Amino acid sequence: MAAVRIPEERRTLNDFSSISNFLATFGITYEQWRSKRDVPPGAPADVILSAYADKIDELKARGGYVTADVIDVMPTTPNLDVMLAKFSREHWHDEDEVRFIVEGRGLFHIHPASGPVFAIEVEAGDLISVPHGTLHWFDLCADRRIRAIRLFQDSSGWTPHYTDSGVDANFQPVCFGPSYVSRETSRPA
Ligand SMILES: [Fe+2]
Repeated sequence: MAAVRIPEERRTLNDFSSISNFLATFGITYEQWRSKRDVPPGAPADVILSAYADKIDELKARGGYVTADVIDVMPTTPNLDVMLAKFSREHWHDEDEVRFIVEGRGLFHIHPASGPVFAIEVEAGDLISVPHGTLHWFDLCADRRIRAIRLFQDSSGWTPHYTDSGVDANFQPVCFGPSYVSRETSRPA
C-alpha cells in the first residue's frame, strides 16, 4: 500500500480510499494490481509483462499508451547516482508518467498547480499515473531498489523538461516505510 504525506499540513494518508480520492483531485490515478500468477523475485522482464498483460492492455486502451517496458534499478546499477540525479530534479513530461511497482519502493513528490507539495511513497503492487504537465520529482528509498513496469504514450520514451526551480531542494527525499524504520532502529544508541 502506498502512503501520501503532505508536509505543509502535517498530514499522512495510509488507506486506499483516502489515498486514491486525494490523488484523484490532482488527476493522478492510483490502483493496486495483483497478478493471477506468481511472479518470483528477479523474474525476467517478459515474464513480468506477461503476468500483468491483461492490466497493461486495459490501461493501454484507456490511456493511449503504446509501449511498456520494465525498469530495474538496484544499488549495484552502473552510474546509479547519475541516473537518479535525472529523476530527482523537478520536471514535467509531455505524456503521463505511468509506473507499476513490481519490487522495491520509491518516493514521488508532486508540486501541484494549487496546493502544497506532497509525497507519494509507492511499493510493490502500486500503480500510479501522473498526468502530463504535472510538476514532480522522484527518489529511491534507502535500499535503492525499484523494479517497475513503465507505460509510454510516445515510443521515444522518457523525456523530462526541467524547471530548475529549486523547489525539490526544500523536501527531504526520505521514505517513511520499512526501509526508513529499519535504518533508524538500527542506529547505535
Ligand atoms: Fe518524471
